[in-house]
Amino acid sequence: MSVDRCICHDVPFRRVLDLAAAGATFEQICDQTGCGTGCGMCEPYARLALFLGVDRLPVLTPQQCQAIRIAVAARQPLPVPVSISASPSRPRRD
Ligand code: FES
Repeated sequence: MSVDRCICHDVPFRRVLDLAAAGATFEQICDQTGCGTGCGMCEPYARLALFLGVDRLPVLTPQQCQAIRIAVAARQPLPVPVSISASPSRPRRD
């Protein structure tokens, strides 16, 4: 099972990536698409998708989502779950 979109507003993370590539900030993307402005469950996913440059993520634990929210609030790099960072299909960010 994987997560590839904001369910509340049916916004694929591919669209989030495309808007970011066009220069939009995360906040601008949320304002424009509604992503993250409903229940908020997709926000850590959308942020991690942007951070990693991927449009699909495995289901994260509540602890992993919370760790992402804490890192965002502290303006620190996002913690990448080992299950993702160990994936051979994950694009490199160097
Ligand atoms: S799933 Fe994105 S706001 Fe609810």
